[in-house]
Amino acid sequence: MNKYFFIFFLTIFLASCTNSNEEDAFSNNDCNTDDVSYLSTVRQIVNTKCVSCHSSGTTNGIILEDYDNLVFHIQNVFFQINSDLMPPSSSIDLTECEINQMESWYENEMPL
Ligand code: HEC
Repeated sequence: MNKYFFIFFLTIFLASCTNSNEEDAFSNNDCNTDDVSYLSTVRQIVNTKCVSCHSSGTTNGIILEDYDNLVFHIQNVFFQINSDLMPPSSSIDLTECEINQMESWYENEMPL
């Protein structure tokens, strides 16, 4: 009988461990969409996900490597992202957090 109680409590103990780990992981993933600026956040996203194909050295005509050019193309940029056209490879798709941050930035009139 004692053995079964032990297993019972062990199971609860392990289950509660797993739960608290998930909570920790979740809170570490919190997405900060407050006070998003180009220099603090957006530049990093676009540099990582877009600029390899959209700098002045590339040939498709859409330059996204600096603030002025990004703002110039911003409507099309959101259209491409939201239609899942850009980036062309889903392996570098923007995360949900990155999209939320970009939208928050746009709604705040795209602060530098
Ligand atoms: C692997 C290369 C690559 C990456 C990464 C990439 N693009 Fe593109 N993009 C292209 C090419 C090539 C074109 C032109 C041909 C086309 O429209 O498919 C293009 C076209 C565009 C256009 C113009 C589309 C039109 O027809 O009006 C926009 C806007 C754009 N990309 C935005 C982005 C954004 C924003 C990102 C990052 C989230 C991104 N791209 C990432 C290769 C890339």
